[in-house]
Amino acid sequence: MQLLREPEAFRRACDEARARGQRVGLVPTMGALHAGHVALLTEALRHAPFVAVSIFVNPTQFGPNEDFARYPRTLEADAERCARAGASAVFAPAPEAMYPPGDETRVRVGQTAAALCGPHRPGHFEGVATVVAKLFALTGPSVAVFGRKDYQQLRVISRMATDLFLPVEVVGLRTVREPDGLAMSSRNAYLSAEQRAAALAIPRGLGRAWGAFHRGERDAAALTALVRAEVEAVATSIDYVDVADPESVRAFAPGERVGDRALLALAIRLGGARLIDNVVLGEDPPPLATIAGV
Ligand code: PAJ
Repeated sequence: MQLLREPEAFRRACDEARARGQRVGLVPTMGALHAGHVALLTEALRHAPFVAVSIFVNPTQFGPNEDFARYPRTLEADAERCARAGASAVFAPAPEAMYPPGDETRVRVGQTAAALCGPHRPGHFEGVATVVAKLFALTGPSVAVFGRKDYQQLRVISRMATDLFLPVEVVGLRTVREPDGLAMSSRNAYLSAEQRAAALAIPRGLGRAWGAFHRGERDAAALTALVRAEVEAVATSIDYVDVADPESVRAFAPGERVGDRALLALAIRLGGARLIDNVVLGEDPPPLATIAGV
């Protein structure tokens, strides 16, 4: 496996793979890799023999009071993990390499970025779309794999690929969870043991709503109330709990009836960590089978 720090060297490695006739796959990450990231890599390898993992804590997607400086950086262990899991290349550029002096162009995102996390993280999805566009341009991937854990991000990137006619298939992969139901996240490292236990209110709440939906509940406010009842007790604050259209991610108004497939998504703060999670009702399995009540 090649570990590359320079954009041009990485571009060359991807060009050479294509010249050998290999399809190229890309898994963009910010590192601190866990089993969820590895599942994306494994999925990418089903589509392409040459898979590159990018590891880059992207400054433009963090707000001024967010966790850019303290985001975990574990490149050596990450690269080892990628090699073991079958990656052909890891691309780990310096911030100045991705945003050299004079850099000023940004991808302007639209309505898909305005809902859910949008109002709570101004500029976030513009930063995500911009860095992913740069990574697509360097890699030239036939396929790129993203997690449904960051469901809105996946929709924003799919939208960008469609709107800009980017020649890449964007694949979304199910959320990988810990055995107790908590969605894996690099940010779980911020939680104390006590907060880690409290965070289980998230899969519990999503599970209760999942069960109610399964039994026929279609009222948006009733579904979100089931989640709020669980997370309110533990959260430092709640950014949102919304039921939304799975394509546009537009949130349903309270009292609005949802269809037979609906995104239930939340973001809460627990101590110093901002945690997000979701299930697509009518499609995903329950986040916690034992308490779904079916
Ligand atoms: P990061 O948070 O490192 O996530 C990288 C990829 O892993 C994303 O596609 C994310 O959805 C996926 N992922 C994270 N946790 C997951 C889980 N528990 N199960 C399945 N997939 C999971 O998302 C980013 O980085 C950045 O915004 C990035 C796209 C790399 C742009 O900077």
